Amino acid sequence: MLEKITNILNEISQIKVKTAEDLETYRLKYLSKKGILNQLFEDFKTLQPDLKREVGQKLNQLKETLSAKYNQSKDDLSDHQETTSKQDLSLSGDPIAIGSRHPISLVRNEINEIFGRLGFTVSDGPEIEDDWHVFGALNFPPEHPARDMQDTFFIEKNPDILLRTHTSSVQVRVMEKTQPPIRMIMPGRVFRNEAISARSHCFFHQIEGLYIDKNVSFADLKQTLLFFAKEYFGTETQIRLRPSYFPFTEPSAEMDISCTCKGKGCNLCKYTGWLEILGCGMVDPNVLDFCNIDSKTYSGFAFGMGIERIALLKYQVKDIRIYSENDIRFLRQFSSVL
Ligand code: PHE
Repeated sequence: MLEKITNILNEISQIKVKTAEDLETYRLKYLSKKGILNQLFEDFKTLQPDLKREVGQKLNQLKETLSAKYNQSKDDLSDHQETTSKQDLSLSGDPIAIGSRHPISLVRNEINEIFGRLGFTVSDGPEIEDDWHVFGALNFPPEHPARDMQDTFFIEKNPDILLRTHTSSVQVRVMEKTQPPIRMIMPGRVFRNEAISARSHCFFHQIEGLYIDKNVSFADLKQTLLFFAKEYFGTETQIRLRPSYFPFTEPSAEMDISCTCKGKGCNLCKYTGWLEILGCGMVDPNVLDFCNIDSKTYSGFAFGMGIERIALLKYQVKDIRIYSENDIRFLRQFSSVL
């Protein structure tokens, strides 16, 4: 009889109860009135008294094991049933909040796309630069006062390593490596040593453009920028060029676009009817020569604009600092703009 009990203990340790039917089969086989356990207790009664102690202990152990397994399996099954019946498959899922592009990226992408249609490709360059690429090759002599307008952060002195003040440094890198025709725009982050205020920051973003080929004239510059202004600000937009100065362009100009108030007066254009948006000019022959492009054969134009300023005009943003404050209330407003 002891052997029988041990065999049953082995047998039940192998049994897996997976469904309610399995559980019922188990109950009928081992625990019901006509089941194995009851039968063993019947047999137990007929044993000789000296064997009863040992067999009785074993039999009780079997009884406990059998009912423990029964209860455990029952609990497991009802847990499982509960979770499956609680699942409502018709419920909608937890929504994942989708962010939106930063306004600076939106404006940059749109400008890239407009110039892309004119055949301009995008170029990239380092933010940490040497003096030559930011100033020297762009015709800023070492002690020239034009450097004061673009003071920056110096990382090393002699030779100077600094944060670029404009993406014109990428123009230099492109010209050093490529012979014309060149038709490229250079978006990127730039840095200036300026007091932070509503109108200026120590870092901002620019897009500069460069077009070099044979017989490129000021008319090409003007037409390209007029096309851009109409595409970006609307077909009604007019442009105006005012003479200006940059060491790397000759002649140089600032470009204004007409204000939507048409000069009737608004806060944006301060009753002038015009909004300044970029600097431009014909690339100075010195710059071409510094970059190993023959200035007798080739000519070209360049322009540069601040992305924050363009975004400011387009979306009527009043304070440049808000672009880098990560204020979700500001950023969320651009979620509908692709
Ligand atoms: N690099 C000039 C600036 O940062 C902008 C510019 C680019 C002007 C190209 C003329 C031509 O102010």
